[in-house]
Formats: sequence, structure tokens, C-alpha cells
Amino acid sequence: MKHRVFIALVISLFVPFLIMFRVSSTPSEPLTSPIPVEETSTSESLRSLAQKRGIYIGPAVAWEPLQNDANYRSVLAQEFNILTPENIMKFEYVHPQRDRYDFTQVDALVAFAKANNIEVRGHPLVWHHALPRWLWLNENKFTRDELIAILREHIQTVVGRYRGQVVAWDVVSEAINRDGSLRDTIWLRNIGPEYIDLAFRWAHEADPKARLFYSDYGNDEEGPKPDAMYNLVRAMLQRGVPISGVGLQTHRHLKEPPSVERIAKNMKRHADLGIEVQFTELDVQIVEATGTWEERLAAQGRVYSDLLRVCLAAQNCTAFMTWGFTDRYTWVNNLTGKVEAPLIFDTSYRPKPAYEALKKALSSGA
Ligand code: G3I
Repeated sequence: MKHRVFIALVISLFVPFLIMFRVSSTPSEPLTSPIPVEETSTSESLRSLAQKRGIYIGPAVAWEPLQNDANYRSVLAQEFNILTPENIMKFEYVHPQRDRYDFTQVDALVAFAKANNIEVRGHPLVWHHALPRWLWLNENKFTRDELIAILREHIQTVVGRYRGQVVAWDVVSEAINRDGSLRDTIWLRNIGPEYIDLAFRWAHEADPKARLFYSDYGNDEEGPKPDAMYNLVRAMLQRGVPISGVGLQTHRHLKEPPSVERIAKNMKRHADLGIEVQFTELDVQIVEATGTWEERLAAQGRVYSDLLRVCLAAQNCTAFMTWGFTDRYTWVNNLTGKVEAPLIFDTSYRPKPAYEALKKALSSGA
């Protein structure tokens, strides 16, 4: 009996140090210990709630975790009704040689989406990054007609292969500079500004039912770049170019919270043109912001919620997409060289306040 009392005494003396250690060892950076999450507003999934509100909600999907991480696949299938490939549909992946395409990974992703009743958003067809060596290295050897032929074949081969399986495409991405001028890219240099119209016409020929988008960042509020995008789209419509919508990538930082008023106004002017708007690459960086970690997580939730509410309130906002969904896999870490936490699930797939905030936004005012 004395033996047990002695052990109990030792443990009771030791426990406070254990708790103190855990508290003091809790990093102010992304936590591995449980994150305080508000009571779940509803046991319903994001996708079920989004379905009722008539919008798509989903992430960019990375190839490696889709292959190797069962939790990744499980949350993806449970929570989202649309997905976009983060990288594997890019030129360098699907068209590695001039006369060779490789759709192995995209076919597998599209099959996964189909098996889980998830729509696919194609990304990107025409971009100035992620181009294969055979293309960018020989830029000066191609004539204008050769480059037009290469781009046309690329677009019609990729879009044609997934005809009826991809609901929307980022046809042209990031063609506008911050000052509103056209970005100096391989496509502009060698084909001229008409490459944008041509790309949309070719994509439409390959799949007349797919929704065709222009995608960019820094285009969601007001200023030279959003205005240039609006003017580009309006002129394209006047030329009879088959463009359906614009993608607001909306890579944000807690230090610069979005102006929902400006975004709503920008969405409205596109609605007046009959143009859809989609949030396509949302993430909200919080590590550099001020406040306790819990305060930053809560503020991040408010940003996600504010953006979803402005989408739900707009007549022409049809998708709310994030660039990834778990902090375990985010491009931002490579961007900043720091461990970030920009998404709605933590590194252990636990819902963060942002996830709960999205569910509350979807549940309110249905
Ligand atoms: O897969 C290779 C790996 O085999 C290799 O060891 C490694 C190191 O070189 O590179 C890996 O490829 C990287 C790829 O991401 C997959 O992780 C590429 O180098 C890297 O450039 C690529 O970065 C992607 C970037 O676009 C450029 O394509 C990011 O993951 C992706 O999140 C980012 O996404 C873009 C959107 O497509 C367009 N809007 C902006 C957004 C953020 O930049």
C-alpha cells in the first residue's frame, strides 16, 4: 500500500511540469497540438452545404499526396465537389516533347474525381510558366506560324481528350501586368496579343460545352490590373470570342485583408457583361501577421468567410476554390521559405477555424 502511495505522490509532483512543458513547448508557429476549433456548425460536409447553395467548392490537388496519402484522398472525397490539378496538367507535364504527350497522371486524377463524383476544373492551358524545355529553349527558332500551330495543337489535344469530363478551363492565365499592360511572354512576343482570342476559340472548338476562363492574381478588387482584365473581357465579347468567365486567384495575406465591397463591385460589373466569376486559388497566409496564433487562425477564418459570403451574394460567382486544402501540402512554403498555414485543414487534417467559418457561411441565409 505504501508503495502505491509513494508512486501517486511522485506522479502528482511530476504532472504540473509535464503540462508546463507542453504549454511552453507549444510553438507560436503552426501547431502540431490540437487547434481550438469552434463547435462545428453542422456535421454536414462542405460539399453537401455548397451543393445546396448551387456553387462548387474545392481545392487544387497535388499529385504526390493523392497517390501516397490516404487521409488526403479521404478528406478530398468527403468535403469537395470540384478539384483542379495543381501542376500535372501544365504544358511541361502533359507535353514533355514536341511530338509526345503524357496524360498518365491526369487520366488517373480525372478517374479519381469521377469515382468520387467530383467535377474537374482544367488548369492551365496557356501560361508563361511550367513550359517544357523543347519549347522555351527553341523560342527563337520557331516562326509565328509554327508557334501558332504548336499552341493550337496543344490546346485542342488537351481539351479534346477531356471533352465532357472537365467543366471549366483556365484557358489563359496571368497575361496582364500590375500596371494593366500585357505581360511580355513567349506567346505575346511570337504570336502577338491575338494569342488570347485564338486560345479561347481553339478551346471552344475542342469542347463547346466547357466553361472558358481567364485567370489572374491581383485582379479581384480595383485598379489598373482589374480594369485591364475587365476591358480585355469586354473587348473579347465584342469580337465574339467564347469566354465564359474570369478566375480571381486571390492568394491573400492576413496583413492585407480583402475589401469585400470592391470585390463585390468587380463581380457585379462582370455580371453585367454576362461573365461568370470564380475564386480559383485562394489561400490566406498568416505566419507574418500579428496576434497570438489563435487570433491569427480566427482572423484567417474571417477572411475565408468574408470571401465566400461575397461569392454567395453575387449572382455570377460559381466556384470557391482554394489552392490546396491542408497546410501539410502548400506551395506557399516554397514561396516564402517558411512553414505557413494558409489553408482550411491543419497538417494533421484537423479542421481549422477557417473550415468552420466556411460551413457557417454556407449554412447561413440559404
Ligand atoms: O515534381 C518536381 C520534383 O520531381 C523535383 O524534385 C522538384 C525540385 O525541382 O520540383 C518538382 O516540381 C515542382 C512542382 O511545383 C511540384 O512540386 C516545380 O519545381 C515547381 O516549380 C512547381 O511549382 C508550382 C508552380 O505553380 C509553378 O508551376 C507550384 O507547386 C504551384 O502551386 C504553383 O501554382 C500556381 C498556379 O499554377 C498558377 N497561379 C499561381 C500559383 C502559385 O504560383
